[in-house]
Amino acid sequence: MLRGMILDAEKFRTFEHSGWESIPDSYHQAFGQLTSQTIDALLDAARVKKGIKFLDIASGPGYVAAEATKRGAIALGIDFSKSMVERARRLHADIDFREGDAEALPLGNGLFDAAAMNFGILHLGYPEKALVEAHRVLRSGGRFAFSVWCNPKETIGFSIVLRAVEAHGEPRVELPEGPPFFRYSDPPECERGLIAAGFEAPSVTKITQVWRLPPGDGLFNAMLDSTVRTAGLLRAQKTTVLNKIREVMRAEVEKYTKRDVVNLPMPALVASGVKP
Ligand SMILES: C[S@@+](CC[C@H](N)C(=O)[O-])C[C@H]1O[C@@H](n2cnc3c(N)ncnc32)[C@H](O)[C@@H]1O
Repeated sequence: MLRGMILDAEKFRTFEHSGWESIPDSYHQAFGQLTSQTIDALLDAARVKKGIKFLDIASGPGYVAAEATKRGAIALGIDFSKSMVERARRLHADIDFREGDAEALPLGNGLFDAAAMNFGILHLGYPEKALVEAHRVLRSGGRFAFSVWCNPKETIGFSIVLRAVEAHGEPRVELPEGPPFFRYSDPPECERGLIAAGFEAPSVTKITQVWRLPPGDGLFNAMLDSTVRTAGLLRAQKTTVLNKIREVMRAEVEKYTKRDVVNLPMPALVASGVKP
């Protein structure tokens, strides 16, 4: 049983890794303005301020490290995708970005005053390991914060695509199985995860966010070209089915469109804890 779980987690990691390697530019275009909306709350929860040493885990294009730097922190970004690291370096030439795995950080113990992971945990085969690693690299009294999407009833971008696949396509396709995408959309699960990794005083807050997209196929294209798991689900559908999903998604998106701009509610949770 354990052996099977390890193999699946490794397959899942390889699948995620090759996905992220190929989409840094489209992710930046489609998701950058959305995931950046969480950063202030994340940095506040991790108490990021001038002079502290800060680690941005699963840093992607480096938005969190960049904002921490603006606050005067000394930031390092770590991501397992070489092309994401290159993207981050091109966007923020003054910040240190390195390749590394969130589940086995290539960093010593107790080096950082604060760490954060913005929408990274839902992409990990072993999120528990990443929580333990974040704890390990913090000093005593250091704080860690991570963000996740709220459940799909509330995150309309996800509910539109998942309902369209459920109604018109095949939701159970053969993809390397990872942990449930919305596992940490449950605040008590965030708190349990933080405590199990050794953090104290866990706290979870909800952040209101809006995803602004081009009208028509903006959401469909973002899901197909700028995600990994959801894109895998869409690409596994037959062409005729995918066309139907696109059509249904376009009609749903229309309900959130005003004067040619789509505004989709995409709230997030920010969970944090302190290393004793
Ligand atoms: C949804 S993006 C989030 C990017 C960024 N933090 C942001 O604020 O938009 C997820 C990122 O996690 C990275 N990632 C996924 N699994 C990882 C792992 N095991 N170790 C390090 N990075 C990982 C991906 O390469 C990708 O850049």
